[in-house]
Parts: sequence; structure tokens; C-alpha cells
Amino acid sequence: MEVVIKRDYGLMSKAAAQLVVDVLNTKPNAVLGMATGSTPLGLYQELVRLHQAGQVDFSRVTTFNLDEYVGLSANHPQSYHYFMHEQWYERRIAECGGIDLQILGIGSDGHIAFNEPGSSLSSRTRLKTLSKQTIDDNARFFERREDVPVYAITMGVGTILDARKLVLVASGKTKAKAIAQAVEGPVTSMVTASALQLHRDASVIVDEQAAAGLTMRDYYEFIYAAKPAAPKA
Ligand code: GLP
Repeated sequence: MEVVIKRDYGLMSKAAAQLVVDVLNTKPNAVLGMATGSTPLGLYQELVRLHQAGQVDFSRVTTFNLDEYVGLSANHPQSYHYFMHEQWYERRIAECGGIDLQILGIGSDGHIAFNEPGSSLSSRTRLKTLSKQTIDDNARFFERREDVPVYAITMGVGTILDARKLVLVASGKTKAKAIAQAVEGPVTSMVTASALQLHRDASVIVDEQAAAGLTMRDYYEFIYAAKPAAPKA
């Protein structure tokens, strides 16, 4: 796992956008997995800017969303519609040749997508019941806490690990503990972001505040600084 620490949110977003651009330069018809949440917004804005400047072209790109809330009554989670949707989603990803780059945020409880603590590290796209912590955290996007859906459809941890490349972005002190656990803690379904340790090409790009709990910080910075001169594998 590569750990990149940037001074602030803007630089974190630019570094993550550059990673997307690098993938598209190598493969203009890449399949991208897009994350929700507020953290990747700066990254998306930077991609828009690069597109407007003519530096990146998305015309041949296919995207898949990482997760989605489930509307309550009309789309009852037990319905076959949802079951079919989950099956269909995995099949579509496979038909598109798999995800080349999956963008991720992290929940304050260490989740990726909506894979709450206890999610199997080999899980596939499915319905999840959100944790109280996630409902509290995401209440800021809704008028009232009661409006936050209790269910979501999410790519599984196994689905995410199938992507060829992963980039996780995190910003702010509320993410420091989750980042420390995900990067330096044991691999555990209690912190599903720790599954990134099992992936062969995962980058974690954080700002100073989100990096605050990392003990190996000097080493990560040393590796990153030495990267341009590293022999090509
Ligand atoms: C939600 C999403 C996650 C996201 C997390 C953090 O739970 N399902 O994909 O990573 O929120 O969101 P934010 O970046 O707004 O802190």
C-alpha cells in the first residue's frame, strides 16, 4: 500500500486526480469506480478543471457507482427487484472488463463504500443496514436525522478488491483514527478499509489532519520522495 500525505485538502485532491489522469492516459476507455461522500468532491472538481483545460478526456470512460441509498417504501429491500439489481450490477462490471480504478472515501468507523463493521472481506454487491455511527455522520446531508435511509446497496469488499487499482482519499481529523487503523492496524472486518492491505495496487492519499495517527509517517514520506528515482519494475 502506498501512503501519500499532502499538506491540505486541495493538494490531496490534486494528487488523487493525477492518479486518475495517469490511468486514462494509459487506457482512455478505462472503467472507473466512483465514490460518494464529501471527500472526493475536490478530486472531481479537479477532474472537471483538467477536462475543461483539455488535459483529460472522459468520452470513452465507463463508470460504476460504489454505493447508493435505498429509498424506503417503494423499493423495499426484500423485493426481488433489489435482488436482481445486485446480481445485475456485478455482471455488468464483469461485462465491462472489470474496474480499472476504484475511488474510495472512508467512514469514521473505517468503512469503505457502505461495508459497515463486520462486513465479510469477500462480500459482493448487496444490501446493507447502516450503522448508527454512519447514520449520525451522514445526517448532515439530510434535513433531519430521521430522513437518512437505513439501507443501502453497496459494492462488497470483495468487489472493491477486484478493481485493478484503488485510491482512497481522506481529509480532516475525524478520519485520523480510521486511517491509522486501516493502514497500520490488523486486517479485520471490523475496519473494512483495512482490506486495502490485501490489494496489490492501493494508494491512500490523506491530508495532514487525517494522517495524524500514522506512526510510520516518516517512512511513507521517504518512499514517496524517492519514487521518481525508483528503478522501474
Ligand atoms: C458514506 C459513503 C462512503 C464514504 C463515507 C465518508 O458512508 N458510503 O463511501 O466514504 O460516507 O464520507 P465523507 O467523505 O463525506 O466523509
